[in-house]
Amino acid sequence: MSAVRIEGLAKAYGKHAILRGLDLAIKAGECFVLLGPSGCGKTVLMRLLAGFETPDNGRVVIGDVEVAANGVNAPPDRRGIGMVFQDYAVWPHMSVRDNVSYPLKLATVPADERERRTQQALDHVGLSGLEARMPSQLSGGQQQRVALARALVSKPALLLLDEPLNNLDANLREEMRFEIRELQQQLGITVIYVTHDQEIALALADRIGIMDEQGRLRQIGAPAELFDQPIDAYVYRFLGIANFVPMKKRGANWYFPDGVETWKGAPPNLPGEHLTLGCRPFDIVLSHDGQGLPGIIKRASFLGAQMDYLIEVGGVTLRAATDSRHALDQMQRFAEGTDCLVNFRSAQWFENAVPANQGEAHA
Ligand SMILES: Nc1ncnc2c1ncn2[C@@H]1O[C@H](COP(=O)(O)OP(=O)(O)OP(=O)(O)O)[C@@H](O)[C@H]1O
Ligand SMILES: [Mg+2]
Repeated sequence: MSAVRIEGLAKAYGKHAILRGLDLAIKAGECFVLLGPSGCGKTVLMRLLAGFETPDNGRVVIGDVEVAANGVNAPPDRRGIGMVFQDYAVWPHMSVRDNVSYPLKLATVPADERERRTQQALDHVGLSGLEARMPSQLSGGQQQRVALARALVSKPALLLLDEPLNNLDANLREEMRFEIRELQQQLGITVIYVTHDQEIALALADRIGIMDEQGRLRQIGAPAELFDQPIDAYVYRFLGIANFVPMKKRGANWYFPDGVETWKGAPPNLPGEHLTLGCRPFDIVLSHDGQGLPGIIKRASFLGAQMDYLIEVGGVTLRAATDSRHALDQMQRFAEGTDCLVNFRSAQWFENAVPANQGEAHA
């Protein structure tokens, strides 16, 4: 049985269509991550699932209960869901304990059971001992845990998390995403997690759905599957830093934009004479001698664990990355303005035209 079934879901604001007949089935116990650019409709979808918005069309079934369809729209507190939204407001005038137990109070759960379940939720998120504190006496990460405990205290079968880690610094965000994953597996709950951060998506998800600007799901799959077999350049770009090179076929060869250098790797398995070559920074191998395309190092940055390069090759600028330790040990470090040879460890071909490689690969 699916934990959540979404069929033909449509929502517009005035003339502005956000969702245009979305279909999606989420399995029970899975962590499904919805990944998409800002403004594509992720939060709108979550609000529809939670019952804060009414769909124009389509159906939502949670468990075996139809919560939204043809005029029916069950209110949020009748949907059996927990949620932590973008602005994870904890109530500043209530202690940690009161924040977390509040939903149970609303549901008129008897005091002793309320106490027990609140304590359990606080244990789950590692906050025991801080029950009496006020939110102003907590760090950002601890406040985040309060919001999470509050979402869990009603024992929801479904947890909706909409960018819940946005307000945290990078280290804490990393730590929390593992904790959320652990908690999800330990409790066996179904999670729908919204983000535009591909690292969080890859780390957390059983499956990822990539949403585009039109509010359509471009591809759904396990993280490794999307990473290895993206159906198009859009999906490819969403899962990490991407270099895109517009390539042209002449005779049997595929030419780089300078019209001189040719692709030496396996030829594409796609029709057409104009295709886009995609490669990641770590797909590019640099050397001082041997075979390879001649390149010039335009920028070299030492980023701690890795060396990050901008290389001009074949009439395009590519972003490349090498392991710093390797670079230091093997004398494979390249100074700005020097020549290098460029090889590709792997690459993918796409039919869609993508703007030539600038901007995003340099982000
Ligand atoms: N209540 C509303 N009235 C009118 N337009 C709205 C409303 N809520 C959302 N929108 C519009 O719907 C579109 C999708 O918004 P949504 O909040 O779902 O984006 P998002 O994918 O969550 O983006 P982000 O990653 O920035 O949070 C946006 O263009 C937004 O302006
Ligand atoms: Mg949003």
